[in-house]
Amino acid sequence: MPFPPKLTPLQSRFVASLAASLVLLAVYLFLSKPHFAYAAELGPRIPPEDHNHYLIYDEGESDIFGEGAQGQEAVKIVSRAEAGVSALANNAPQNSNINVGETQHWVMPKDVIDGPGGTTGPGLPSDKLETRELDEEVGGLKKRQDGKRVYITLNTCLQPSPNTTDGDASNSTPPQLQMYISLSQSNQKPGPESGNTVEVDGGYAIYEVDADNDVFVGVSAPNTTQFAGIWNYEIAASVDAPFHGSKSNVTNLHFVDSDNHAALLITNDTTQAQPNETVYQDWMNLSPPWGVFAANHNDTAILGVKNSFCGLKNTARLAANVPGIESQNVAKMTNRGLGGKPKEQFYITGLNATSQYWGFLVMNGNSTASGNGVVGGGGTVWQAIDFQTKTEDNCALMYNLSFCSEVAYAVPTNPHKFDPTTGLPGLAALYDSHAAQMYQYFNYSLQQIPCNTTSSAQYSLARNCDDCARAYKQWLCAVTIPRCADLSDNHSWLKPRNLGQPFVNGSSISASQLHVEQALLNSVATNSSRNPLIDESIQPGPYKEVLPCKDLCYDLVQSCPASLGFACPLEGAGLEDSYGSRSNDSGVISCSYLGAAYYLSGAETMEAVAMKKVGLLVFAVVLMNLL
Ligand SMILES: *[C@@H]1O[C@H](CO)[C@@H](O)[C@H](O)[C@H]1NC(C)=O
Ligand SMILES: *[C@@H]1O[C@H](CO)[C@@H](O)[C@H](O)[C@H]1NC(C)=O
Ligand SMILES: *[C@@H]1O[C@H](CO)[C@@H](O)[C@H](O)[C@H]1NC(C)=O
Ligand SMILES: *[C@@H]1O[C@H](CO)[C@@H](O)[C@H](O)[C@H]1NC(C)=O
Ligand SMILES: *[C@@H]1O[C@H](CO)[C@@H](O)[C@H](O)[C@H]1NC(C)=O
Ligand SMILES: *[C@@H]1O[C@H](CO)[C@@H](O)[C@H](O)[C@H]1NC(C)=O
Ligand SMILES: *[C@@H]1O[C@H](CO)[C@@H](O)[C@H](O)[C@H]1NC(C)=O
Ligand SMILES: *[C@@H]1O[C@H](CO)[C@@H](O)[C@H](O)[C@H]1NC(C)=O
Ligand SMILES: *[C@@H]1O[C@H](CO)[C@@H](O)[C@H](O)[C@H]1NC(C)=O
Ligand SMILES: *[C@@H]1O[C@H](CO)[C@@H](O)[C@H](O)[C@H]1NC(C)=O
Ligand SMILES: *[C@@H]1O[C@H](CO)[C@@H](O)[C@H](O)[C@H]1NC(C)=O
Ligand SMILES: *[C@@H]1O[C@H](CO)[C@@H](O)[C@H](O)[C@H]1NC(C)=O
Repeated sequence: MPFPPKLTPLQSRFVASLAASLVLLAVYLFLSKPHFAYAAELGPRIPPEDHNHYLIYDEGESDIFGEGAQGQEAVKIVSRAEAGVSALANNAPQNSNINVGETQHWVMPKDVIDGPGGTTGPGLPSDKLETRELDEEVGGLKKRQDGKRVYITLNTCLQPSPNTTDGDASNSTPPQLQMYISLSQSNQKPGPESGNTVEVDGGYAIYEVDADNDVFVGVSAPNTTQFAGIWNYEIAASVDAPFHGSKSNVTNLHFVDSDNHAALLITNDTTQAQPNETVYQDWMNLSPPWGVFAANHNDTAILGVKNSFCGLKNTARLAANVPGIESQNVAKMTNRGLGGKPKEQFYITGLNATSQYWGFLVMNGNSTASGNGVVGGGGTVWQAIDFQTKTEDNCALMYNLSFCSEVAYAVPTNPHKFDPTTGLPGLAALYDSHAAQMYQYFNYSLQQIPCNTTSSAQYSLARNCDDCARAYKQWLCAVTIPRCADLSDNHSWLKPRNLGQPFVNGSSISASQLHVEQALLNSVATNSSRNPLIDESIQPGPYKEVLPCKDLCYDLVQSCPASLGFACPLEGAGLEDSYGSRSNDSGVISCSYLGAAYYLSGAETMEAVAMKKVGLLVFAVVLMNLL
């Protein structure tokens, strides 16, 4: 698994023995309960002394073995599956269609359970040492117990469609398949009437047990008249690891930003290693291991397979980096973002404007191989995230800049000057080269400062010129490349810009249309962009801006020598028009900082530190017309 919990040997021993006790308890309850239930149900029909009641129970088998079914023969029969029960081999998925109301039967035979396991690959880059320790611990646990840990997993691959004559169902999710288990030779066909139920959730079910004999599985399709057609599912048994994976309560995907047809998503950091460590470099050189499926919230049927890899593959309209799907979106590893750690990013296009989407992070097999014979070859699905697209066409999602490499958000654009599908590199180059040029002016100034002298001659003991250069670049990119939002977006932290200017389609805003005061139209802050380049070369028309975070300004002032003359506007005297504040709610981006992503906190803000020293600022010079 990609993120093994890092336990000390002592912790893992405790976990192991706790797990062992729980497992034994569970096995005891599991074995005893259905047995009693079965005895109670069928008791009257089966003579208590008859040890061959398997034969009585199944008429088909008794035709063949009925005559000599005693002693040795009976033992043979016990380990032989009944007619209509198909055997599952290790890590070999079986695929089957199933009709409404039908039940199908499978068995993981004892010789597969006792047979050899598959070979597990090296896995994704990780701290290999700790993983191996944990594995040995688990191996030791296996030997101490009765039976072997086995995993039976199910993925729903297709669902029936709404029975269109029944209007109520046309917008709903089909019911789930049902899975039943029996560990008893006397119930080889578990189903709705007998056997333990295993919950199928979002098209996924897993059953784990320490088994020393055949494990019988029943799969049923519920009776319904609201949906017509078949289900299709994949079922697999493994002694190594679950063939299909579902991490439905683990978030590992985040929404960065969108425009009216595209969205940028990122995974969590894959490692906390430093750039000079091998693990870090291994991740950056890896071909992207994850894929993403996306689906419109209107496609509610997909909720029936939201935890199933093959279900999503068959149902989702949009995909990135999933082999076997025609039009793929872009996925690659990047170290952009807070902390500069490796992560995977997905640029999903072909979305509708003003729409809500689900994003499903998935892994195809073990990321380098999938399907028959691969441990974990059925794929894994993580928790879905929600994201939405913008409405207007004058914000363009931009990333992959060369100087302001941390920029990854929507910026003001003009779709007539920069075509949404082909013009983005030109737009990016315009913003980026402007920022790079301004940085060059700053560099000349910085070269006049005694940076690399002894510490007593330095302008500050706490900060040096490298800190100043870093803070300036952060601030400059955030301030010259504004983060764009829809004009129709009413969030309180958004600042309207360019209100008096014509829309890209030539029409103009009417004061009543937005309840705008004439004063707003006349004010410089709301009737222009913060960067004059935007109004001169792009002319996006009216838009709203997510203001840069004020801690970017405080950090700049603190990190650079006073002789450079940087200052932030004061609270109540322009600060509110130019800078925004971070929200305590990490789900919200109330001000713009580089590396921002929804529900990923930018908590490592410098604001707290900066606020203490802000009182020392006695001069307030607003720099370079940037407000
Ligand atoms: C569906 O209904 C039929 C007829 O009543 C019944 O035999 C069958 O067991 C039902 N199937 C399920 C999965 O409940
Ligand atoms: C995936 O499985 C294949 C075949 O079992 C194996 O060769 C490969 O190393 C595995 N990949 C990873 C990343 O473990
Ligand atoms: C569709 O619904 C109608 C009315 O409820 C019902 O008569 C018909 O049998 C249903 N069709 C299927 C395939 O379930
Ligand atoms: C996620 O689900 C698994 C299995 O249902 C459970 O063991 C685990 O504790 C859950 N994790 C969290 C963070 O809820
Ligand atoms: C990813 O990050 C989120 C937010 O920080 C955290 O809740 C989640 O557990 C992380 N997921 C993994 C797989 O580490
Ligand atoms: C990586 O760099 C850090 C300092 O940046 C240093 O302390 C550490 O020893 C380096 N690690 C390796 C493996 O070179
Ligand atoms: C999605 O559903 C909403 C409300 O049901 C509807 O207004 C909208 O047009 C639908 N969008 C698409 C793309 O189907
Ligand atoms: C976009 O909207 C159209 C029309 O409502 C719909 O058919 C299509 O599936 C939607 N596409 C996506 C990717 O949501
Ligand atoms: C990102 O930019 C580099 C060069 O700056 C370019 O080679 C690459 O194709 C770009 N990638 C995307 C996905 O735009
Ligand atoms: C400033 O410019 C010089 C020469 O172009 C370059 O070597 C230096 O790294 C730059 N300084 C900073 C802080 O970027
Ligand atoms: C200070 O000196 C170091 C090492 O000589 C150099 O790498 C760094 O770029 C210098 N900083 C500036 C701002 O010139
Ligand atoms: C924003 O506010 C205006 C006026 O109150 C309202 O007409 C408009 O529908 C709101 N927009 C959204 C997206 O809520």
